[in-house]
Amino acid sequence: MSKLQRSVASPHVICIEDFRPIARQRVPKSVFDYLDGGAEGEVTLRENCRVFNDVTFRPRHAVACGKCNLGVRVLGFDLALPFLLAPVGYSRLMHPGGEVAASRAAGRAGTAYILSTISGHRLEDVRAASSRPVFYQLYLMGGRGAAEAAIDRARNCGFSALVVTIDTAVSGIRERDYRNGMKELISGSVFEKIPFVPQILERPGWLIDYLRDGGLPGLPNVIIPGKGQMPLVDINAALAESTPTWADLKWIREHWKGPIVIKGVLTADDARRAVDEGVAAISVSNHGGRQLDGLPAALRALPEVVEAVQGRIEVLMDGGIRRGTDIVKALCLGARAVLCGRAYAYGLAAAGEAGVDRAIEILRTDLERTLRLLGCESVAKLDRSYVNVPKSWDEV
Ligand code: GLV
Repeated sequence: MSKLQRSVASPHVICIEDFRPIARQRVPKSVFDYLDGGAEGEVTLRENCRVFNDVTFRPRHAVACGKCNLGVRVLGFDLALPFLLAPVGYSRLMHPGGEVAASRAAGRAGTAYILSTISGHRLEDVRAASSRPVFYQLYLMGGRGAAEAAIDRARNCGFSALVVTIDTAVSGIRERDYRNGMKELISGSVFEKIPFVPQILERPGWLIDYLRDGGLPGLPNVIIPGKGQMPLVDINAALAESTPTWADLKWIREHWKGPIVIKGVLTADDARRAVDEGVAAISVSNHGGRQLDGLPAALRALPEVVEAVQGRIEVLMDGGIRRGTDIVKALCLGARAVLCGRAYAYGLAAAGEAGVDRAIEILRTDLERTLRLLGCESVAKLDRSYVNVPKSWDEV
């Protein structure tokens, strides 16, 4: 077992939350806050996690339940787990393995990885790292020209679906990033980066990993497909005006021709619109509390969306998942599968690929234990009868 594997093995890390202090100690403060933080007062960020406590279980005890089946079918692909790894921008800031490490870990576990547009590794390398489906998350950064080239590139190297994020009309204000000067760290001049030298030197493990990987000069690059490799862009500027409209979506569909997931739906109206636009799936999401603060928790919005969709397309959800019990609750409320973002990204920041493997393993064993304690042998059998939901949730 390597030193990194040991650092995240039991008993140091027995739940996802245990990765946080390790990650905080391993990466520079600005990078940790970029991953950990949300928009404005971070109310939605906290609510995404808290709301799972409002839903409680209704178990079926004294039921013999052998090996549990965790498999689900998403967009026609059989996955071994009911969770996918969500797109996380700038994953390569957390560890040089970044998106390739996450894709490989997802594939090894038999699930899908979703690559963010804001990737530090080449699409081809991320695709090649996994034998399972890899999806590509699209922002219209650089306009339709860049998006067209990105779509072609994703198709040519074997990505299976497009995930189109619709909640970034402008970037949310992530106050920690402003205070930390994240903009200067990732897109400033050498002179503007000088204030970050002390926090980088305080994290020698992080720095050494980059030096071993070819050095820090390789880090400040992000691949914007269609534009090749560009200097790292300021995340706020990058997200602003990078969201597609429904009109763009028509164009994207015609160009891509494969399955599309719309990420960022929170209301019945947008859900019905997505169905009418012919997408294959939606993800109920508030962007991990990173965009508009004051949005409802993703889980809270899930029943309204499931009800509006009436089974016509697949419903996924993301936001606040930290435990297998969270995943089970989302499935009981009608999600076909969930996307986990921070849950594995904390692992990536704490220990690179070994951390992602461990995060997936924690969620997998949580799921098996939870199903057995509930008396349900398969995630496919989960439904509302396994949970108590506050009465007020039924009033839309
Ligand atoms: C990118 O999508 C981010 O939320 O930082």
